[in-house]
Amino acid sequence: MAQADNAADQRWPWWPLLPLYPYGRRRTLVRELIPGQLWSFEQLQGIFYVAVPIRMTVARLRDGLLLYAPVAPTGEVLRALRDLEQQHGPVRSIVLPTASGLEHKLPVPAMARAFPEAQVWVTPGQWSFPLTLPPAWLGFPAGRTRVLGEQGFPHDDELVWLSLGPLDLGLGRFQEFSCLHRASGALLITDALVAISSDPPELFEADPTPLLFHARERGDQPLQDTPEQRRRGWQRLALFASFLRPEALQVPSLRQLLDQAFGPGCRNARSYFGLYPFHWSGSSEQAFDRLIGSQPGRLQVAPVLERLVFPRARAVLLRWLRQLASGPGASELRWVVPAHYDAPVPASAEGMAQLADAIEARPWATDGGNWAYLARLDRLLLRAGVVPDRPAL
Ligand SMILES: [Fe+2]
Repeated sequence: MAQADNAADQRWPWWPLLPLYPYGRRRTLVRELIPGQLWSFEQLQGIFYVAVPIRMTVARLRDGLLLYAPVAPTGEVLRALRDLEQQHGPVRSIVLPTASGLEHKLPVPAMARAFPEAQVWVTPGQWSFPLTLPPAWLGFPAGRTRVLGEQGFPHDDELVWLSLGPLDLGLGRFQEFSCLHRASGALLITDALVAISSDPPELFEADPTPLLFHARERGDQPLQDTPEQRRRGWQRLALFASFLRPEALQVPSLRQLLDQAFGPGCRNARSYFGLYPFHWSGSSEQAFDRLIGSQPGRLQVAPVLERLVFPRARAVLLRWLRQLASGPGASELRWVVPAHYDAPVPASAEGMAQLADAIEARPWATDGGNWAYLARLDRLLLRAGVVPDRPAL
């Protein structure tokens, strides 16, 4: 199995360029989210052990399957998909529902090669940096790739598609397409909304190393596997992913870093030989509690999106939420399945309307506490003229 997984990874054209965890040891958790209708394929993806779960959702169609936001097609993933194909018919469509989310874009070409009969659908405005390359150069198969919206939508008698954006970000555009799977009442989304659980996701049970790595206070502390350490590590990973540099995190000096390296019990690759460039000065637990609020697992806007993508475009997000609450298919909404964190999350049209009202009533894209680093980044990009003051819609 490991050989097959590695072979699939090696076909990935960008693989050597990106130091993405977990390198050649990618595992996938396959879960049936809604019996006979919807399946979740979760993998870890990240850099330097700051690994967050990423999800592909597989939806059953009348005559086959749809893959929404593909993950890397390892041998394990392909075997599970072939099993589903046996039961429900072939993979008909592979959808890249975001213009900007690199973590969702990278697996698409390899997944498309694994299913040569499937149609590939991509969000318009796919961008690459530093050069804008034609879609075929990005690895999307030229003969069977369609653009969502511009060339219609796949299976639109069974699915309701809705665009969030587009929004001009200066360097490129933000846009994502949500998809209501009418048979199950599940709304598939990419990055716009998340629901963060207080306990680590099941995916980490196969390998809790990233959690244990971040649960420590210093580089010379060996990795200890206890439920408390796993929970602390999860809280810190969620804070990293949400705020990039949360308030309680300080980066130690190079001297401190080296003083704590190569300690007893840490002279191994799993501990990065004691190299641990993080120091948590405040309580990461309190910061995490503030992040998830009084109702763990509730739907919320991801902080990175709020502060870096929508800081001056809250109205665009509100419009999208209210369309979900009252547009086509709204009365059928039962679940939300995001591409990160918890799923499925119970949902309803009324819940979407209430979420929009709550977002409108609270302060938006603030600057203090955990938000300070994101706010600094945003100001820097604004001053440099990289992002527009008034985003074009
Ligand atoms: Fe994402």
